[in-house]
Amino acid sequence: MKFGSRQRFVSATASVTVCLFAVAIANGQAGQAQRPPMAEEVFKNVQILKGIPVDEFMDTMGMFAAATSLNCTSCHASDNTTTWDKFAVDTPLKQTARRMMNMVNAINKTQFKGVRSVTCYTCHHGDQRPKIVPSLIVQYSAPLEDPNEIEILPNAKAPPADEVFAKYIQALGGAARVGNLTSFVAKGTYSGYETDLARVPVEVYVKAPAQRTMVVHALFGDSVRVFDGQAGWVASADKPMPLMPLTGGNLEGAKLEAMVFFPSQLKQAFSQWRVTSASIDDREVQVLQGTNPRQPPVNLYFDQSGLLVRLVRFVDTAVGRVPTQVDYADYRDVGGTKLPFKWTATWTDGQSTAELTEIQTNAPIDSAKFARPAPAPPPKGD
Ligand code: HEC
Ligand code: HEC
Repeated sequence: MKFGSRQRFVSATASVTVCLFAVAIANGQAGQAQRPPMAEEVFKNVQILKGIPVDEFMDTMGMFAAATSLNCTSCHASDNTTTWDKFAVDTPLKQTARRMMNMVNAINKTQFKGVRSVTCYTCHHGDQRPKIVPSLIVQYSAPLEDPNEIEILPNAKAPPADEVFAKYIQALGGAARVGNLTSFVAKGTYSGYETDLARVPVEVYVKAPAQRTMVVHALFGDSVRVFDGQAGWVASADKPMPLMPLTGGNLEGAKLEAMVFFPSQLKQAFSQWRVTSASIDDREVQVLQGTNPRQPPVNLYFDQSGLLVRLVRFVDTAVGRVPTQVDYADYRDVGGTKLPFKWTATWTDGQSTAELTEIQTNAPIDSAKFARPAPAPPPKGD
């Protein structure tokens, strides 16, 4: 997706908030946390992508942008930077995209037994208009190697997964120290699309086995992401709803990003691990791919020193699978264990970097930090 495609963040409008309240009432009190609102309940003009939660709906938009290299504002009205309402207005490209969704659904249904074998990316490959004539340059040059697209073939030379984990634990400071780490609190700066790449303060709270809260103090107000060990939410005024529950692959992903700091939990989280090697920026890495039945795989990349440098996870959406990549760097010693001070997340809908300046290990964390956050108030200052 092109840079700055989201342009300035769009505010959660009054109408969206009203819709949400309506949903909460319709669900009754007991249903509040159980069923996330569906896209058609929150948005105004959803004709095809009905019956999916809002986080998954936003990931389908990420797929569209990634597959066609179009910006959000190319398919939607170009002056929609201050309100989500304008996203409901139809444009010729939006209508074409709907036609394309119907076509893709029909192909998958009739030709691939309903499996999403064909996605927008299959034809478009990042081009607004798919190419018709084959490229001789592509045909005669070395294939572009993307370590995120690994294929794991049986390899007698690959070390067993246990050995890669053991080396990771060793590199972090050894089993005893790693086992002692049960939580940490961090401070630093965060920059991302939603902050217009400005660096703003961030706080992170992480607790074993798998809880994580990140509070970004953006200019438009606090942007809060919580995974409480089971459920997850984003409360941020730049999202289309003031409290967006995480579902499906986003929920699994939030769990993984909390668990990643506790290697023994991580190892147990997948029923099968397979090993291969790849390279990231010309550096050789060992790749562990974890799988569980009926879930997309997860790839972990370890550098020569044994440290985890990348995590790639996937979200299955109504229009196909989309990737999220988190790169970890700047490992420093904190109380005997190494922790990464720089985390860069890249997904189809944006990129963000957290650069930590201070990490305190095993500090007590009030359990309220991991509770469901309050819905984000309307944005400040716009
Ligand atoms: C290739 C064109 C395309 C791109 C690029 C695209 N969208 Fe969409 N968007 C659509 C279509 C089509 C719909 C309607 C879906 C339907 O009818 O089921 C839609 C609907 C929406 C809606 C619901 C609006 C409403 O109230 O009905 C939102 C919000 C939205 N898009 C946000 C985004 C964001 C944010 C991005 C950038 C990450 C984006 N879109 C990129 C085509 C696109
Ligand atoms: C089977 C191949 C194929 C798939 C799959 C496919 N497209 Fe297309 N798409 C095309 C072709 C071919 C064109 C160009 C038609 C033309 O040149 O006028 C096109 C054109 C478009 C355009 C209009 C571009 C323009 O500038 O007019 C949009 C938007 C688009 N596709 C979106 C999507 C989306 C979103 C998906 C996934 C839901 C998708 N396409 C899946 C083949 C495909």
